Formats: sequence, structure tokens, C-alpha cells
Amino acid sequence: DALITSINHSSPPSSTKRHLKISIIGTGNVGMAIAQTILTQDLVDELALVDALPEKLRGEMLDLQHAAAFLPRTTISASTDYAVTANSDLCIVTAGARQNPGESRLNLLQRNVGLFKKIVPPLVQYSPDCTLMVVSNPVDILTYVAWKLSGFTTNRVIGSGTNLDSSRFRSLVADHLDVNAQDVQAYIIGEHGDSSVALWSGISIAGVPVLNFLDKKQIPYKKETLEKIHKEVVNCAYEVIKLKGYTSWAVGYSVASLARSILRDQRRIHPVSVLAKGFYGIEGGDVFLSLPAQLGRAGILGVANVPISEEEAEQLRKSATTILELQAQLGD
Ligand code: 2OP
Repeated sequence: DALITSINHSSPPSSTKRHLKISIIGTGNVGMAIAQTILTQDLVDELALVDALPEKLRGEMLDLQHAAAFLPRTTISASTDYAVTANSDLCIVTAGARQNPGESRLNLLQRNVGLFKKIVPPLVQYSPDCTLMVVSNPVDILTYVAWKLSGFTTNRVIGSGTNLDSSRFRSLVADHLDVNAQDVQAYIIGEHGDSSVALWSGISIAGVPVLNFLDKKQIPYKKETLEKIHKEVVNCAYEVIKLKGYTSWAVGYSVASLARSILRDQRRIHPVSVLAKGFYGIEGGDVFLSLPAQLGRAGILGVANVPISEEEAEQLRKSATTILELQAQLGD
């Protein structure tokens, strides 16, 4: 006798709900933080993990599977063979060298480009219709590399970019004004890293543009205070890396929020790394930088035309130039 007596012996109705699958490449601290956040959010039916180290990989898979009694039901598989990623809706790449304390993200470029040449082609082969999400650093250039290697249209190659910096920014502004970070609308755009750009005039709380409000009420604030907050955002990752060796939890939540917007077709706006050529006077080549983009089932649905100051646009163009110079050294 079956353990559970079936009350309906006719064939089950064919499900109209799609089977959703995410693959995560790289089961280091970042990959696993993303995996565990995604699992708790009941986002997918299947989660596949890939890593070059078979023992670590199997250990991580088993450890997650052992939490099944506390989690929404999700099939978790893992293999060093990319066949395990077949038919993914979203492939998230976190593999690669990470920064040593004090090291800049851009320093990782050569090491991680070599790795991407081994990672992206099999992902595309097994999931030709997926969206690719790049998390490894330097994320903007690696998103460009993944786009080139994949042959995908630009809407389906996304860098996690400054979604994370923006979350750090919102939490610092929230602390400053003693409000909830979820009520703070604020964007950091541009490079995920040292040359990121804070959009001060766009900060709003409860629909009120904050700087505009302070100006109108003649409440004084110092430009240095603003600069200090932005410096703190840029320094966040360096500080955490110095203290614990790597960053993981915030990037885990940040990437899971992007995955949700894409797979659940939320059409929310997130600052993520997209092909930025043509926006805000960025010219000179194909460069990926974070801009506020609308995300949905088709990947990037569009870029929000947020007004920015000439000074901010100039900063953006400067990062674009730095990134293009580094890309020019990559060769084929
Ligand atoms: C971060 O910002 C290191 O890019 C990583 O946490």
C-alpha cells in the first residue's frame, strides 16, 4: 500500500505553471549566499550548482538538501559537468578570483576573463534561451565579456552591478535620517566599484525629493556630508573584506532580488549593469555600466530616463573611458 492514498486516479491535470530553474556557477561564499536566499524565497522549482571543486560542491549541495524540512520544495542538484544546468531560465555566474584585502575589483580582470571563456560557452550550449546574470568582478567588464562570448542580445546579459551599492547607499541614508531603508529611493549608478556615481537629486522618501525639500525649507546641509556618505558606500566592500575576508550576505540578497524581478516578471527598476552606449553621452565603444533598468521575464525591458546633472554625466563618461581602456587590452 502506498503511504499516501491517492484520491484521484485519473492522470493529473497538465500544469500550466512553468517549471523554473536557476543555475549558479561558483559555490564560494557569494554563490552560496545567493543560493540560500533564493531557496528561502520560493522562487524556483529547481536549483543547479556548478563548481570546479567536486567535494566542496557535493558538500554544499548536501548541506542545502538537509534543510528541506524548513524550506519551500526545490530540487537541488550539483555537478562539475555543465549538463546539470540544462534548460535554466537564469544562470548566475559568481565564479572567479576575489579581491584580497585592499585590492581593487579591476585588478581581477585577467584572471576572471580566462575563466569566463570556460564558463559561458557551455552555459549557452545547455540553456540557449536563458538570461545570464554576471556577479563576478570586475562585474561591468565581465558582463561585456559574457555578452560577447554568449552571442545573446543585450537584454539577456545583465551584471548585478550597483544594485548592491544602491542598497548600501539606501541603508546609510536611512540611518542618517532615521527612516526605514525600504522607504528610501536612491540610486548609485555607473561602475560597481571605485568610480560609482551617487544620484543625490534623485533621493526621495515618501515621494519627497530630499535635497529639494531641504533647499526649499532653507535647512542647511554640507556637500562634504554627501561626499562622506558616498565615500562610505565605496568603502563598504573594502571594509567588509578587511574584516571577514569577503562580502556575501548583502550581495546574496541583492542578486536574489534581481532574480525575483526577472523570473516573476516584476517589472521593477533596479540599477544593474547594461550596455550603456548612447545613454548620457557615453560613446566610444560597447561599455556596460549600471543604469536604472526595468527587469522582467525578458531580462532588461528598458532603461529609465532618470535626469542626472552634467557633473554626474561627466563622472559616468569618465568611468566609461577607464573601462573601455581596460577592455581594449583584452584582445580576443
Ligand atoms: C561587493 O561590493 C566585493 O563587489 C563585491 O561586495
